[in-house]
Amino acid sequence: MKTGCTRAALWGALWGAALLCAMTFPRSLAAETGAEAWLRSSKLNPQAAEVYRRLPDRVVLLDDSLVLKTAEQELSRGLEQMAGRALQVESSDKRSSFAGKALVLGTMKDLHALSSKLRPPHELSGDGYWLKSVKIRGAECLIIAGGTDRGVLYGVFALLSKIARADGPAAVNPASVDLSKMDEEQQPYAAVRWVNQWDNLDGRIERGYGGPSIFFAEGKVRSDLTRAGQYARLLASIGINGCTINNVNAAPGILEESFLEQVSRIADVFRPWGVQLSLAVDLSSPKVMGGLDTFDPLDPRVAEWWRKKADEIYRRIPDFGGFVVKADSEGRLGPSTYGRTPADAANVIARALKPHRGVVFYRAFVYNHRLDWHDLKNDRAKAAYDNFHPLDGAFDDNVIIQIKNGPIDFQVREPASPLFAGLRRTNEAIELQITQEYTGQQRHLCFLVPMWKEVLDFEMRVDAHASPVKDLVAGRVFHRPTGGFVGVANVGMDANWMGSPLAMANLYGFGRLAWDPNLSAEKIIDEWTRLTFGGDPLVVKTITAMQLSSWHVYESYTGPLGVGTLTNIVGNHYDPGPQSSEENGWGQWHRADHQGIGMDRTVATGTGYIGQYPPAVQRLYESLANCPDELLLFFHHVPYGHVLHSGKTLVQQVYDSHYEGADRARDFIAQWKGIEGHIDEERYRDILGRLEYQAGEAVVWRDAICKWIDGLSGIPDEKGRFGIDSRK
Ligand code: GCU
Repeated sequence: MKTGCTRAALWGALWGAALLCAMTFPRSLAAETGAEAWLRSSKLNPQAAEVYRRLPDRVVLLDDSLVLKTAEQELSRGLEQMAGRALQVESSDKRSSFAGKALVLGTMKDLHALSSKLRPPHELSGDGYWLKSVKIRGAECLIIAGGTDRGVLYGVFALLSKIARADGPAAVNPASVDLSKMDEEQQPYAAVRWVNQWDNLDGRIERGYGGPSIFFAEGKVRSDLTRAGQYARLLASIGINGCTINNVNAAPGILEESFLEQVSRIADVFRPWGVQLSLAVDLSSPKVMGGLDTFDPLDPRVAEWWRKKADEIYRRIPDFGGFVVKADSEGRLGPSTYGRTPADAANVIARALKPHRGVVFYRAFVYNHRLDWHDLKNDRAKAAYDNFHPLDGAFDDNVIIQIKNGPIDFQVREPASPLFAGLRRTNEAIELQITQEYTGQQRHLCFLVPMWKEVLDFEMRVDAHASPVKDLVAGRVFHRPTGGFVGVANVGMDANWMGSPLAMANLYGFGRLAWDPNLSAEKIIDEWTRLTFGGDPLVVKTITAMQLSSWHVYESYTGPLGVGTLTNIVGNHYDPGPQSSEENGWGQWHRADHQGIGMDRTVATGTGYIGQYPPAVQRLYESLANCPDELLLFFHHVPYGHVLHSGKTLVQQVYDSHYEGADRARDFIAQWKGIEGHIDEERYRDILGRLEYQAGEAVVWRDAICKWIDGLSGIPDEKGRFGIDSRK
């Protein structure tokens, strides 16, 4: 008896301790590869899960479309995984006898058939969604309605994201997800929310840092496309509705009949997620693989060739999105071969796609990479505007000019491209680079959302009116029929998609900004961190702070003051190599010599690039007094002793910035170590290794650039940190 009592007491104590542990410590520290990214749908803590026990256990689908079925499956899977709720599914044919509590999934059209009174405050258009708790025929229901069936899927993902984020010890009060009061309407900012993959058909990815292609291997489409389907799911979960699967430096073979047959299998795995497939095409295709003796866009045989090719594609892929074109750029053939314009080239393809509602993304990244560097008036930054502004209005309505965020090429800091303000009668999209080509190649932490936001929020003051870049690209300023956002993603076969789990914040952030560019970087990274690592307050605080500071840290030890990335631009775009920018035709010049540094792009004495902006922006950049320090060297050539707005000399700021940046990169290690035991060991170790490596690389950068500037300027660091011996 005594023994029994003691045993019971012991079990009781152990059970209690176990419960306490379960409530105090993170519940899921199981090894994670990062493959689930932000869609982990971890089991909720008991208090949070309890709230969802009250949800209807029945889901009614108002239609039987493929995407709607995906939406239902995703909802069922999410609720089962997070809250242990198994849903019973009913389809539309029971609509007339609809009764009882239910989660209702359907487009607005289907919803009106159920009850004409159900209307969101603003009419849903496009891929928008509406989450609404409402009584239908007396029963409490939660409606997930969309302008399209894709909108319904986005609504489901939004709901699951809210539920997942309400978990965690600090967030057991799920006020933000009080389902009985749910009334939320969301519209995407723009129709175009696409990613580009720069995958080659042999399976390598240009500027990809997450392993080989998920689409291609050894010149063929992979036989197993599981990852491609999972990628489409990830994309859909953040509202991305299109994906170009191959490199902009396109292999003409992609358009071969036998290849298109294979490509259609990729479209098949995208389709349930509402992701449209598109292809990058080589403009010379009619000649190099099509059997014609020309690819002149004004030759009727060429037009006919594109028309037939488009028809063939749509026979195989009825929801095909369209083509992306890189032409007359970095050695690619283009319309200039025949003295034709980008508009001639874009339109001939656009007309072939038009009957099928396809679009052409024509890239504005057209420039001469054999510029004469001796000529101080030459300037690659001017190329996009010079080539496309004169053609404004000449492009068909289903052409979108795809413009990189800055006028050079995804450098760590650039001003917004003036072309955004230079097209009034032409559709445009902004091209952002998610893959970190010039920003640390996923081996350095660099959360790019703060940088993208600066560009998207940049006020162009077209005609002295409000016209931020986000509104220009969304077609809101000049009332264009389409436009939006394109991100170069380059995920690969690595389990964690991009090489580093932390780099996935950039893919998530791109999708969220494409949906709503007014979201703050803080909100986006908070969401991403909770979804990716859980809601432990220390984890959330640490990771969000690291991510939010990371772009500035990277910039400060690589290339501050708008000088661009001083990387090896003719090689790997990664290591320090400041001299590689100079004395060649690529035009990524910084013009550093013994007197000073920076590109003079002023109208008064420089290349005249600043004259491409609307007047208010010209005034900001043209005068040294107004030009912000962080872009100083992009716009002005100044002596090393130039005094910045901060009061420091330029040369001292360069030294200080590199030292401070390297110190802050080292601090990331300590910050990260603070969350040991709070996240799974696998991701903890992986990221720790990366941060340690980054800290070392930051010192390499710091020393290389400080030594270079010290050597050029002959001005010592006033803090005496280096260089003294070498000058004696
Ligand atoms: C950069 C990049 C190339 C890419 C090009 C483009 O220059 O280094 O790999 O092809 O951009 O955007 O077309």
